[in-house]
Amino acid sequence: MATTATELTATKLWGGSTAVITGAAGGLGAGFAEVAASFGMSVVLIDVDADGLAGVVDRIVATGGRARAVVVDVRDFDQMQALADEVAATDPPIGLLVNNAGIEHVGLLWEEPPSAWHRVIDVNLHGVYHGVRAFVPHLVAGSRDSVVLNISSIGGLTTGGYHATYSVTKHAVLAMSEALADGLKDVGAPVRVAVALPGPINTRIYSVANTEAGEDSALGARLGSLRNMLGGDGMDPHEAAAMMLDQVAAGAFAVTTHPDWLERFGLQRSERIAQMSREPAKFTC
Ligand SMILES: NC(=O)c1ccc[n+]([C@@H]2O[C@H](COP(=O)([O-])OP(=O)(O)OC[C@H]3O[C@@H](n4cnc5c(N)ncnc54)[C@H](O)[C@@H]3O)[C@@H](O)[C@H]2O)c1
Repeated sequence: MATTATELTATKLWGGSTAVITGAAGGLGAGFAEVAASFGMSVVLIDVDADGLAGVVDRIVATGGRARAVVVDVRDFDQMQALADEVAATDPPIGLLVNNAGIEHVGLLWEEPPSAWHRVIDVNLHGVYHGVRAFVPHLVAGSRDSVVLNISSIGGLTTGGYHATYSVTKHAVLAMSEALADGLKDVGAPVRVAVALPGPINTRIYSVANTEAGEDSALGARLGSLRNMLGGDGMDPHEAAAMMLDQVAAGAFAVTTHPDWLERFGLQRSERIAQMSREPAKFTC
């Protein structure tokens, strides 16, 4: 297979280093793991799904890559800290950390079970924070330049009545990434930050959503159409990961699978904030 110019850039940037990827047992995380391995990185795959992890590791090793799986729940800071210390001590220097693990819950904010709110916030927001808190001190003290890639979403720029909790976490991941980049720049650390704001990707995210007890089955039809939308229009996860890692390797802060969506929803968001700031008395949501 021909090597592209971008592959050469990413290989030059990251080859020989370690990539740590959360939520790597399937979907976009598995895509990131496979693409990182193709750049010559040793990949540490983190997930709660041991079988899924084993399948991805087998695929990477079968194509000559280096990968190992670790069953860790990103909600558990102690597990994340222990893993970060172990990787820093035993693996090649970390070149890339991808805080990717994430889940959805569909429903109206005042109706969803409080356990669903807490679970989504724990995985999507605290999970990313745990990755940052556990690994970034090692990156700051590390012997090579590195990149932290946090996975937000186009949903980090929009809001939707049935995606409230998810939107809250994805807006927060964008804010966290900006603040992290500011802080690392302030101290002159050799660590760059990027944030992914992908559009639809063909993964299981809606197939495993809404698992809480006592769910309202009226949401079934809505979930069904969201699954069909991803199945029909969602980008292939491997292609999505390759596209976004190319943009990260080229130095971008905000990366996406759908540049036209990023521009459209970004401008809508900034115009909405401008309107509520310019004429607060006239602004209605
Ligand atoms: N699929 C999309 O259209 C889309 C769009 C924008 C952003 N995203 C984001 O991409 C990321 C990956 O999602 P996906 O679409 O690949 O979904 P997915 O359900 O296919 O994969 C998510 C992975 O995270 C793992 N995971 C869940 N909870 C975990 C935990 N507590 N600890 C460790 N691992 C855990 C799951 O086991 C799974 O392997 C998420 O952050 C999601 O919000 C997805």
